[in-house]
Amino acid sequence: MSHPSVVSPGKPVALASGVHWIGALDPSMRRFDIILNTANGTTYNAYAVRGAHGVAVIDTVKIEFADEFFARLEAVCRYDEIRVIVLNHLEPDHSGALPELMRRAPNAKLVLSQRAPAILKALVRELGTEPECTPVGDGDVVELGGRTLAFVHTPYLHWPDTQCTWLEDEGMLFSGDVFGCHFCDDRLWNDAVGDFRFSFDYYYQHIMRPFRAFVLEALDKLEGLAPRVILPAHGPLLRTSPREYMARYRRLATPELGSGGDEKTLLVFYVSAYGNTARMARAVAEGAEQVRGLRVSLFDLQMSDVAQFVDLIEEADGMVFGSPTLNADAVKPVWDLLSSLTLVAVKGKFGAAIGSYGWSGEAVGLIEDRMRGLKMRVPLKGLKVKLNPTEDDLERCRGLGRELGAHITGTARRRVVDIAELA
Ligand code: FEO
Repeated sequence: MSHPSVVSPGKPVALASGVHWIGALDPSMRRFDIILNTANGTTYNAYAVRGAHGVAVIDTVKIEFADEFFARLEAVCRYDEIRVIVLNHLEPDHSGALPELMRRAPNAKLVLSQRAPAILKALVRELGTEPECTPVGDGDVVELGGRTLAFVHTPYLHWPDTQCTWLEDEGMLFSGDVFGCHFCDDRLWNDAVGDFRFSFDYYYQHIMRPFRAFVLEALDKLEGLAPRVILPAHGPLLRTSPREYMARYRRLATPELGSGGDEKTLLVFYVSAYGNTARMARAVAEGAEQVRGLRVSLFDLQMSDVAQFVDLIEEADGMVFGSPTLNADAVKPVWDLLSSLTLVAVKGKFGAAIGSYGWSGEAVGLIEDRMRGLKMRVPLKGLKVKLNPTEDDLERCRGLGRELGAHITGTARRRVVDIAELA
């Protein structure tokens, strides 16, 4: 395929008067950060902004692409003209060339978000000294001479340190990973490259989705700027309809499956080899259904694609996982679902575990550990039943459902511990 590239080896790309793209293309990348597939590679977008008092460099590139970055930077300015280095995000794909840039431009001041210095210290140990930096936040600005860089704190998009940089006179938002995607096309601009909608959504789902509350907070700030151009740290530069990308983020981050009103939701998932864990799960659901204001759903994971449940879990208030114990472990469909929960925000949701077992019954404890690791609330001790549950066992399951439902709906009675009970 041949098309007019706007990227040439060693040459920066002019974006506006005194503003250049000085990043790098990585068309060979096929897997990013272990978890992300990249169908045609990615880009590491870095930028240079010139003012009357000097040059600001915004972000760098992955270390393997440092030569490309420095060649483009040197075509834009001398190192002694660089007054400011802004890192919107310190992950190594953007900070890889930072130590060398600091060596080459020793007079430049490093400007980072307020959450970044602790991360920086661990990242640039090779410098041998603790790097000086100026933490900035909302309302702080750097005057470059005739143009001003302002900063927007956007934490957890997708690291604690992440921020955006705003060049008001050009209406340009340097957004870091936000609004980025892994899509490599040397035509750079969103109206010139191929169709990257899948990559945009895929990137959001895998990188930003677990932090959607922070996404909505950030959008409240960024939409108000009404940028003319959004310049993310990966993928196409968004000069055509930038608001549509913000609107897309808002749609993706806005809950859609809520049952409405004050109704809470509990999902009961189970896998059952001989029907015993299934009976326990049904009993838990029966108990929970007695709780006013709680909508309960029961799902057999045996033949299900767990991916379909991730959306439900994102909207749910509580979950119960039922698993038999096989070879001292919970069974694979349960682990598959639990491992998928890194994609969504489950912190603070309620959880419980149940399961029938033959010999040892480790599954319940392992599931509870996983839920606690995800920072879910596990207020009730899980229920383990050896082989066939008795009617008493099933009544305990109903009780667990009722109690968990009460926690979810906020009607659980506080347990008052007599001082005499304390060890
Ligand atoms: Fe592109 Fe979070 O680094």
